[in-house]
Amino acid sequence: MNNKILIFDTTLRDGEQSPGISLNFREKLEIAEQLARMGVDVIEAGFPVTSPGDFQAVKTIAEKIKGSVVCALARAVEGDIDVAWQAIKEAERPRIHTFIATSDIHIERKLRKTRDEVLKMTEEAVKRAKRYTPDVEFSPEDATRSEFEFLCKVIEVALETGATTINIPDTVGYALPLEFGELIKKLVARFPVFGKEVVLSVHCHNDLGLAVANSIEAVINGANQVECTVNGLGERAGNAALEEVVMILDTRYRTIGKRTGIKTEEIARTSRLVSTLTGYPVQPNKAIVGANAFAHSSGIHTDGMLKDRTTYEIIDPKKIGLSESRLILGKTSGRHGLRQRLIELGYKLSPEELDAVFASFKKLADRKSQVTDEDLEAIVFDELYARGGRYKLVEFVIQSGTNIKPQAKVALKTNGEVVRAEAVGDGPVDAVYNAIDKIIGLDTKLLNFSITALTGEKEAIGESNIRLEIGGRKVGGRGVSTDIVEAAALAYINAINRYLMRQDAG
Ligand code: KIV
Ligand code: ZN
Repeated sequence: MNNKILIFDTTLRDGEQSPGISLNFREKLEIAEQLARMGVDVIEAGFPVTSPGDFQAVKTIAEKIKGSVVCALARAVEGDIDVAWQAIKEAERPRIHTFIATSDIHIERKLRKTRDEVLKMTEEAVKRAKRYTPDVEFSPEDATRSEFEFLCKVIEVALETGATTINIPDTVGYALPLEFGELIKKLVARFPVFGKEVVLSVHCHNDLGLAVANSIEAVINGANQVECTVNGLGERAGNAALEEVVMILDTRYRTIGKRTGIKTEEIARTSRLVSTLTGYPVQPNKAIVGANAFAHSSGIHTDGMLKDRTTYEIIDPKKIGLSESRLILGKTSGRHGLRQRLIELGYKLSPEELDAVFASFKKLADRKSQVTDEDLEAIVFDELYARGGRYKLVEFVIQSGTNIKPQAKVALKTNGEVVRAEAVGDGPVDAVYNAIDKIIGLDTKLLNFSITALTGEKEAIGESNIRLEIGGRKVGGRGVSTDIVEAAALAYINAINRYLMRQDAG
């Protein structure tokens, strides 16, 4: 299909470079499996040379994922490329993605090299990667601030040496759509192989809020691969949001005439999974996947919607996997029904994990007449991810009211032992956090704190997302519970466990 746009997802590489995100091994694999299920063409699984943890995660993803290409990033140096290959060599469809900066500002000030040296490094890097796999992608980093003729020279060398994809990054999110479209058009005119034997890719950052607009403009001008991330995660202001790029191409097919192979019905679930596991909440008014993206409140809009959905909706929410009726299970549902629904949602749990999730589900169903998909995902997250780690919440008691100084007693389990502490605070959550601090003995600084209801009802599950600074490192945490103080405590412990896990991994 020559009007196909390849979707290259870099949530696990550029997305994971967002401050405070630190996914563990299992979380990365879960995201990669969901990306493959959604039909992503290429999964950039990580940057294996950066840490043993990253190497192991890329290796496991490479061994397990079928269908999608699995790609590893490497600087244009021999050592990186060799390590990248070791990580992905068992993949069904392995790709090495190597890069070097081509703007003078990066060459002179960051690399401290000359243009000639960059040309030589490009040639050697692509050549080395080709020794391992025929599928080699090359990126001239900071392409949009590179001098055009030099950029062409580097691309020419990469093509002559055998690169099969050339990716043009707007590394610092500086380009305007008009300029970026023009650059892509000029490159297509200069290199007739683009869009034919060689894929022309783009990778846009969102520093000026233009990542998606630039990616679409590039597609209009001949790019046939877009690099993006779920929920727009990524360095600084992030990368182009996958769900936006895909739904723009889908919704405006008649105008743009390009299609992706993404199963759009998986978009909402993928967004929720990534938000849950990264601890990065999705802003309510975010296009496509924000909680309000399909909400209508003004009288005129509601009236229009009731008469005909298309008056105020350009996308049918079902198309991204949001069903109108999300009621699925209740108090009388059994273990089998729960297991079945979890499989439909993409969770394959061990019998022990299913037991734990079933017990939490029963507790929730006693309090809530309708248990939705979001509730189930929250329970699965809580049982499988949030409660894991060095410290576990055993119990807490708080005393709080208009005329009492809030006071908390907390018990945590660590190394098979239950440790208890008491503390006061400015509010009940502060008191609980102070008591946890006494047990853990780390110096933490709370940067962000939020509590939101996951679903609309009064008995909804509360979700707490926090960001902590510990020992100069930022780390996120998430907790869910029908008790909001418990959700806050779980988020705090989750962030601390993630920090400790990172410390242990080196
Ligand atoms: O933004 C960038 O330039 C990158 C490259 C490694 C492709 O992430
Ligand atoms: Zn990037």
